[in-house]
Formats: sequence, C-alpha cells, structure tokens
Amino acid sequence: MQDHPADLSWRDGDVPVSARFDDPYFSLENGLAETRHVFLAGNSLPARFRDGFHIAELGFGTGLNLLATLAAWRAARAPGRLRFTSFEAFPMPPADMRRAQSRFAELAPIAADLAPYWQGQAQEIILPDLHFTLIVGDARDTLKPWPDMADAWFLDGFSPAKNPELWQPELMAEVARHTKPDGTAATYTAAGFVRRGLEAAGFSVTRQAGYGRKRHMTVAAKGKA
Ligand SMILES: C[S@@+](CC[C@H](N)C(=O)[O-])C[C@H]1O[C@@H](n2cnc3c(N)ncnc32)[C@H](O)[C@@H]1O
Repeated sequence: MQDHPADLSWRDGDVPVSARFDDPYFSLENGLAETRHVFLAGNSLPARFRDGFHIAELGFGTGLNLLATLAAWRAARAPGRLRFTSFEAFPMPPADMRRAQSRFAELAPIAADLAPYWQGQAQEIILPDLHFTLIVGDARDTLKPWPDMADAWFLDGFSPAKNPELWQPELMAEVARHTKPDGTAATYTAAGFVRRGLEAAGFSVTRQAGYGRKRHMTVAAKGKA
C-alpha cells in the first residue's frame, strides 16, 4: 500500500470527504454534472477528442473525472486511445474508490470495466481506448520532471483556501510548461490568485458561469491573445 493514503469520512452516503483537507472530493449536489460542466465543457470536450488526445489532471481522488471522460469518449465514438495522466499525493484505497464511484449509476459499466485495475498506488492501465497513468507524489515535485505535454488540463485540487499548495503560481507555471501550444486548462474555482497564477504562466484566462451554486469557474487557453 501507499505511504500516504487518503484519510476519509463519508457524507450523504457515498460522498467521500477528506479529513486531511476538510473538503469533499466532488460536489455534494451532483459530482458528475459538475465534472461535465467544468472539466469537459470547460476544455471544449468532446469536440476536440482525437486519437491520442492527452488530458492531465491535478488531483485524481476517486477517479470520477477519468470515468466521466472515458464515458464521453466512448459516447462520442472517438477514434483510438484517450491518454489520461493524473497526479495524486494521497491515493484512495480501491474499495473507497469503488464506493465513491457507485454513486453514479450512469457510469456503472465503465466503473466495472476499470474496477479490477485499481491498486491505490502509482499505476498504468492500457485498454483498447484508454492509456491511463497515475503518478503518485506531491505534484509540486512530480510535475516538473514529467516528460509529456497535455492537450487539456483538469485542475481539481481541493478548494484553494484549504489546499493552496495545489494552486500556487509555481505549479501553474509548470502546468503551462506541460501544455501543448493550443492546449487548455479548466477549473471549478474562480479564486483571484489562481486566475492570476494562470495568467502569469502565459495562459489567456476567462471566467465562465460555474456549476450549481458556484457563480464562476475559470477557463485558460494557451496560444490565444
Ligand atoms: C477534489 S479532489 C480530486 C477529485 C478527483 N478529480 C475525482 O475525480 O474524484 C483533490 C485531490 O487532490 C489531491 N491532492 C491534494 N494536494 C496534492 C498535492 N500537493 N499533490 C498531488 N495531489 C494532491 C488530494 O489527495 C485529492 O485526491
């Protein structure tokens, strides 16, 4: 098992809450709808999907974003393989991942496909339509040496007030350095210091309507004036 597992309690049945960060892993309203609004639509997906499209994520958590993205990929009949790389410091034990994912009946077939693979530690999963990599460790250390570039980023740390280390300007600069020239990033937060960090990193940043009770979210694009 990993050295630093997630430390969880549960709310409303199947919503995991981090004791370490005092924050839920996904929206108590509707985590799947929030993922679709913020991370998929925020990165103009599924329209940009093509063989080898590479999504990178800060904060793997329960795997909900991966499942929702693979569901969108399959529904769009996108060609070839989706690349999805996620950075996670405190991997969730597989039984907890499965419990959290069980909240979303719509994702049950994909959750079942991936369930046998979860290890709660660094790993790679290769399927006909997915190449997934989980990089374990503090993203402030693990992103810098990452040899790849993403087409789209899901910035999904806990709230910036509770998990500031995952939103700091130096890390946003590494996100930008690991984004392809026409790549994008999206996040549910509109916190000023996050927006400024993304701007300082060279992204062109816009505020869009947020999901549910959140008034705004942030979308960032590289290579646009
Ligand atoms: C809001 S949750 C992510 C939810 C996830 N995307 C999902 O689909 O369930 C935030 C995640 O960031 C991780 N995290 C917090 N600080 C981190 C750090 N410094 N480096 C890497 N991961 C970190 C937490 O352990 C947690 O899993």
